[in-house]
Amino acid sequence: MTELDGYRLIGDIETYLDDAAALHQAIFDRPWSQDALRDLLAMSGADGAVVLSGTRDPAFAGFVLFQCIGDSAEILTLAVAPHHRGRGLARSLVQQVFARARETGAEKVMLEVQDGNLAAIQLYESLGMTAFDRRRNYYKAADGSHADAIMMQLFFDN
Ligand SMILES: CC(C)(COP(=O)(O)OP(=O)(O)OC[C@H]1O[C@@H](n2cnc3c(N)ncnc32)[C@H](O)[C@@H]1OP(=O)(O)O)[C@@H](O)C(=O)NCCC(=O)NCCS
Repeated sequence: MTELDGYRLIGDIETYLDDAAALHQAIFDRPWSQDALRDLLAMSGADGAVVLSGTRDPAFAGFVLFQCIGDSAEILTLAVAPHHRGRGLARSLVQQVFARARETGAEKVMLEVQDGNLAAIQLYESLGMTAFDRRRNYYKAADGSHADAIMMQLFFDN
C-alpha cells in the first residue's frame, strides 16, 4: 500500500471491480463491463491497482489494469474519476505498474493510447514513455467515427 496526500493506493482490485466498471462506463465510448474486467484479470500475469480517497469510508478514485508477460508489461486500461484528477493519482498508478513490472523482470512497458488524448499522452511522456508506432483506425467511437492508436513504450534501465 502506498500513501498519497489524502489517498491510498492498494493492489486489491478484485474488491472494486464494480466501481472500476462504472468508471469505465462513464468515461469511455466502448466501456468494459465488470465481467470483461474480471476476464482480463484472469489472464496470465494480469493484475491491477486502485486508488481510494479518504481513510474512514474510502471512495474509489481510479484504477489501472496491466499484464506482465515475459520481458514486457502492458498497461491495459487506466482511469481516474473526473473529480479526483489533477492530483497525481494517474502518475502514481502508472509508477506502481512500472514497479510491479520491474519486480517480475520485465524490461519494458508498453500501451496503446487514442490519438488526441492529450492528458494521457502527456502523462505517459512525463514518465519517460515515447511513441513508437501507430495503429490506424484502431478505436471506434459511439458515433461510428474512428481514431488511431498511438503505441508507446519505455525500456527500463537496469
Ligand atoms: C489521463 C488521466 C488518467 C490522467 O489522470 P490524473 O490523475 O488527472 O493525472 P495526474 O494528475 O497524475 O497527472 C500527471 C501528468 O499527466 C499530464 N496530464 C494529466 N492531465 C492532463 C491534462 N488534462 N492536460 C494535459 N496534461 C495532463 C500532466 O503531464 C500531469 O503532470 P503535471 O500535473 O505535473 O502537469 C485522466 O485524465 C483520465 O482518467 N482520463 C480518461 C481515461 C483515459 O484517458 N485513460 C487513459 C487511457 S490510455
